[in-house]
Amino acid sequence: MRTQVAIIGAGPAGLLLSHMLHLRGIDSVIIESRSREAIEATIRAGVLEQSTVDLMTEIGAGERMKREGFVHHGFELRFAGRSHRINLHDLAKGRVITVYAQHEVLKDLIALRLRTGGQIHFEAKATGLEDVTSDQPRVRFTTKDDEDKELACDFIAGCDGSHGVSRAAIPEGSVRQDYFRVYPFGWFGILAKAPPSSDELIYAHHERGFALVSTRSPDVQRMYFQCDPNDAVDNWPDERIWAELQARTAGEGFRLKEGPIFQKGIIPLRSFVCEPMQHGRLFLAGDAAHTVPPTGAKGLNLAAADVHVLARGLSAYYATGSTELLGDYSRTALRRVWRAQHFSWWMTSMLHRFHEGTAFDLKRQLAELDLVTSSRAAATTVAENYVGLPLT
Ligand code: FAD
Ligand code: PHB
Repeated sequence: MRTQVAIIGAGPAGLLLSHMLHLRGIDSVIIESRSREAIEATIRAGVLEQSTVDLMTEIGAGERMKREGFVHHGFELRFAGRSHRINLHDLAKGRVITVYAQHEVLKDLIALRLRTGGQIHFEAKATGLEDVTSDQPRVRFTTKDDEDKELACDFIAGCDGSHGVSRAAIPEGSVRQDYFRVYPFGWFGILAKAPPSSDELIYAHHERGFALVSTRSPDVQRMYFQCDPNDAVDNWPDERIWAELQARTAGEGFRLKEGPIFQKGIIPLRSFVCEPMQHGRLFLAGDAAHTVPPTGAKGLNLAAADVHVLARGLSAYYATGSTELLGDYSRTALRRVWRAQHFSWWMTSMLHRFHEGTAFDLKRQLAELDLVTSSRAAATTVAENYVGLPLT
């Protein structure tokens, strides 16, 4: 098998890249270890930045998102039961966010890719990358019938998420440096069949810990609360979850509308960056190269921004033979990545309960709230970071 760009992973990064390349006349093949059904059923992100929405629209994948997504002009910071609104639309010069679930984005991209002749090998697991520093790299993979195969290509895009195989093809130490931060807490996420409790997302700071009220549709709500990352879902029957969420979001007469919970899960919070994001003809994009804690809602959006830069570099190469933009890929992508890392870390540290140094951290968090609510410049910084930088 041969293609121009071998893409490992059919997440947001791999699918967006494949379609952007197709629109520029460049062939790609996607190798994806999971089934289409599993991908389309995995619950993850929900917030799309303005530039992710614009990118989806531009490549012809935005129709259902425009119809079914929810545009939010602001969000709420809630401290000790008091609400403080960040007006994104006003502060970020008309830029806003759209709430549209990641698995809906993936359904739209998979359908579009298959309709336009895209090749996605589901249940095919990449097992190794060969000769990435030559001009004839290859991806070894195992098909769903357990056959070992090879995909020869000009370039490899490692879009295989945080547990993929691509990153390991960049020699650690001599070439690759990893930057890590592990947080001592996780998020307990639920989906509930209930009407929305709020028109906008609520990021709640509370002495019992952080909580987030988000949404998915008029009758499905997404909520999270800070928890011990080693806790077990089974310790949390529905009544206990609702009591915790109600306690953390209460105040000014606010009460969450409850309903049956049909999905529960615990996610650890991590910050991670791998530098560089390129080695020879291998380019990492999305979670394969970096992870952010979900507090800033940046992960999916960073994946989209990476592949936007990569698609431009690859199309310049195929149009003119120039490797200038490709050579700049890692530097360009990492600039946004570190901005997002900083913002996600800052949101996390402002809103979560810290077990050590709690009294100091609480005072610091209140000072941060004071800054954001009393200084238009500070609120503008939050809004601009939250809606996301324009694509470069
Ligand atoms: P992934 O989506 O992880 O895709 C990688 C793909 O590669 C997977 O389909 C995987 O099966 C495949 N793969 C892995 N190994 C192999 C292999 N060896 N061979 C073949 N295929 C392989 N981000 C936001 O922007 N906004 C949010 O609101 C937000 N909220 C979040 C909430 C939660 C609870 C979580 C968990 C994440 C959230 N994120 C959010 C982060 C976001 O989901 C990720 O950053 C995003 O999925 C990254 O996309 P990706 O394409 O890089 O990787
Ligand atoms: C979500 O709706 O899943 C969501 C929203 C905002 C975040 C993280 C996740 O910061």
